Amino acid sequence: MNQQKQDVKYRAGIVGCGRIGSEFDDDPKRKTVSSHAGAYSNSDDIDLVAVSDLNEEKLNKCGKRWGITSLYKDYKKMLREQSLDILSVCTWNTTHLDIVKDAVNSGIKAILCEKPIADSLKNADEMVNLCDKKGVILQINHQRRFDRVHREARDYIQSGGLGGIQQVSFYYTAGIANTGSHMLDLLRFFFGDVDWVQVVYSQSRSPNPNDPNIDGMVKFKNGVLCTLQSCDVSEYNIFEMDCLGTKGRLKITRSGFDLEYYEVRESDLFSGYKELFHSEPPIKKDVPREFMTSAVSHLVECLREGKKSISSGQDGRAALELICACHESAKADGKRITLPLNDSKIRITSK
Ligand SMILES: NC(=O)c1ccc[n+]([C@@H]2O[C@H](COP(=O)([O-])OP(=O)(O)OC[C@H]3O[C@@H](n4cnc5c(N)ncnc54)[C@H](O)[C@@H]3O)[C@@H](O)[C@H]2O)c1
Repeated sequence: MNQQKQDVKYRAGIVGCGRIGSEFDDDPKRKTVSSHAGAYSNSDDIDLVAVSDLNEEKLNKCGKRWGITSLYKDYKKMLREQSLDILSVCTWNTTHLDIVKDAVNSGIKAILCEKPIADSLKNADEMVNLCDKKGVILQINHQRRFDRVHREARDYIQSGGLGGIQQVSFYYTAGIANTGSHMLDLLRFFFGDVDWVQVVYSQSRSPNPNDPNIDGMVKFKNGVLCTLQSCDVSEYNIFEMDCLGTKGRLKITRSGFDLEYYEVRESDLFSGYKELFHSEPPIKKDVPREFMTSAVSHLVECLREGKKSISSGQDGRAALELICACHESAKADGKRITLPLNDSKIRITSK
């Protein structure tokens, strides 16, 4: 690769200095870089030059934390004055379209936008089409896509390591659009496009009344059937995928930070039967887990090589489409909704 190109440092800015924008890195229990500001500050390829938030206290706290002096209450002013190459959109999904439009008009090269991509399919389409038309890279921060262990687990399953897939179960909490957006995106990442969804509103509580939990079934075009089962996050957090193949079982546990593997062996309890036994995972799991820094280094790679992100605007749109399809099904008391949805009246106001 061209050395001159390698030496270019991209100028980045952030709109939204809340939890994912900055504050997650104030949590002493988090052992890996967990915010956009943390990931940019950690990158040799990027200068984090400016941040914006409507909330002055959060803005000043973020500036102090990361040593940024160009602080803006008005993100449009930041876009006008800072000649940014990269913008992180770390605000609530109802604001994403307007910020993306303003960023594209300012001449931005790449956008790292939080999930869910937007509040409606129409707005998501507008974001994706605008970025495509203007040659702007749009990357959605469904961060597990950038993690080596998740990618290797996917490759292992797709290459038949578990044999044929018999059943998949996903356990999650905290709303179908909030954490559910990560779940639906990850399922697409592993199993491809969805044929239909058939779901109901869950009895388990979600912390946001505008973003309920949903339980039910998702059928993939490749024949895999997955059950979605939600729990109340105020009792405990769970984000787990359990994949039962004909040759073994792989569980991705603890929000994606751990793996469990079971192999098929002769039963020691019943003659003529085989069972699943806990065993060493076929994927090395004790490797550094850096979801956010990997998301940022992938974005830099896309900018340098002019390629599309592995978590593109279209992928973000597809996750939102699934969230909308789930609502349409649940509103109709478990009616089967077949994809694709070209449009939907569902509005997603997840925070
Ligand atoms: N990828 C992940 O793992 C992950 C984790 C947490 C949150 N998120 C997503 O990130 C987004 C933000 O969530 P959060 O929990 O960080 O929220 P938050 O409330 O902690 O932070 C959002 C910030 O955006 C600011 N803001 C809103 N509108 C603004 C505007 N027009 N200009 C400047 N600042 C503005 C708010 O003042 C607030 O400080 C949501 O879409 C959420 O779903 C993603």
